Amino acid sequence: MAPTKNSNAPQVASQAVAAERVLVLDFGSQYAQLIARRVREAHVYGEIVRHDITAQRVRELAPKGLILSGGPASVYAKGAPTCDPGIFDLGIPVLGICYGMQLMSQSLGGRVESHAVREFGRAHCTIGDAKDAADIFEGVSRETQVWMSHGDQVDAVSADFISLASTDTCPHAAVKHRTRPLYGLQFHPEVTHTVDGRTILANFLTNVCGCAGMWRLGDFAEQSIREIRARVGNDRVICGLSGGVDSSVVAALLYQAIGPQLSCILVDNGLLRKDEEHSVIFEFTKHFKTDLHVVKAEEQFLSALAGVTEPQEKRRRIGHTFIDCFAEEARKIQGAKFLAQGTLYPDVIESGAAPDGPADTIKLHHNVGGLPADLGFELIEPLRDLFKDEVRQLGTQLGVPDEIVWRHPFPGPGLAVRCLGEVTRVRLDTLREADAIVVNEIKAAGLYRATSQVFAVLLPIQSVGVMGDARTYEDTIAVRAVTTDDFMTADWTHLPHDVLAKISTRIINEVKGVNRVVYDISSKPPATIEWE
Ligand code: XMP
Repeated sequence: MAPTKNSNAPQVASQAVAAERVLVLDFGSQYAQLIARRVREAHVYGEIVRHDITAQRVRELAPKGLILSGGPASVYAKGAPTCDPGIFDLGIPVLGICYGMQLMSQSLGGRVESHAVREFGRAHCTIGDAKDAADIFEGVSRETQVWMSHGDQVDAVSADFISLASTDTCPHAAVKHRTRPLYGLQFHPEVTHTVDGRTILANFLTNVCGCAGMWRLGDFAEQSIREIRARVGNDRVICGLSGGVDSSVVAALLYQAIGPQLSCILVDNGLLRKDEEHSVIFEFTKHFKTDLHVVKAEEQFLSALAGVTEPQEKRRRIGHTFIDCFAEEARKIQGAKFLAQGTLYPDVIESGAAPDGPADTIKLHHNVGGLPADLGFELIEPLRDLFKDEVRQLGTQLGVPDEIVWRHPFPGPGLAVRCLGEVTRVRLDTLREADAIVVNEIKAAGLYRATSQVFAVLLPIQSVGVMGDARTYEDTIAVRAVTTDDFMTADWTHLPHDVLAKISTRIINEVKGVNRVVYDISSKPPATIEWE
């Protein structure tokens, strides 16, 4: 669901999170979220903030530590993101990663060199003096594999720093200040390819920052329900349901907090997966007995999409039509003061928290822009501090059925961005049927939980085939299956050949108008998960 721009949005997490927090300063890294997640996996509340947060503000927030993320810029580039150098004088432990390390070294007298060739990929890292490295590299073998992704690197550290580790091409792969709690890593500990990355981050949190690891999700639910009740009082809350995990968990949380004061809206845009609408209606009327309003808007969406083939334009039109439908229905609900949305932490970071932040925009997400501020509601976004896997855990705690909690993510613009070329009802029906076969066969093979996202894509090309004695000239379905734990990078899944064979046979036999099935074997990056 799309977040309304909310000028009152808290810049830091609510009371619902633990006091022990570590701030991740975002210099535009695609991995900043991953760093925050890894911190939370160590039961410390990791929170992303802008790179230019002032030392004064950091002092007020009193974090246990700071992590400076990587970033695409060179520290020497004009307009390269910087940080307040005062943060190094606060006595708060700092870990600089890649660009963050370069910036810290440069601020404190080291020399960063530009290298013409980017180093990207696995590297063999040797850890030096065991005594110096005892805190940050505790439990890490002296020879370990790390993941590098950088152009510049620190070639000379100032006399204040000790070099802790090196690779063939990088003399200072890890450094530590002699007297202050400042550490730098040229490699990326947050990425799973760095074999001991989690241990290194955990060492920073416990051995250097002194964190006890007290952040727990269970406390979050109770606290969040108390906060919602206090804020809503006797008023009514509207919640948009999409069929996905996030909006379902928000609705379940609100239902638990305020029961009959909740009204849900489901916009049936004609772009949902097979039977999705029915299962949402069932859950939110029979299981959670909410006041559910279903807006039948297939016609409106299809006419908005007629003749449109350009992906971003599809997304834009779907976004606008959604706002119109939603707003019209919301106006009919008497006495509603609040609008609840399933905005997650990654949405907050990607779409709003740092509007002029340094990260590159890859896709125009439906979540961006979203519902306009003038709808006249106050926003409630109870999941805005959580990552997807945390939302799933919360959903289970709240009694949301597994079928919804574990449903693979589905993009806001729905099947429209999997129906390449023009979106028509006939083409959507073809895609919906093929998609249902893909998902059912994956479930039947017991692979649904083991894969992160599995779906069908209808390609805008026909090809020649033969059926019986006749020549055919029909559509092609691409099958996509990926495995990932953050959706920012993903591997294509090596599905067993017999499962692929069954999917292919069934689609060609059962879905009218399809004579060819292909399997997508691209990972992200460079491909994205969705095709549009
Ligand atoms: P990409 O295609 O960017 O997708 O690799 C990453 C994840 O995001 C989902 N996705 C979206 N989710 N609105 C959403 O709510 C969108 O517009 C959107 N586009 C992509 C995608 O399904 C995958 O899980």
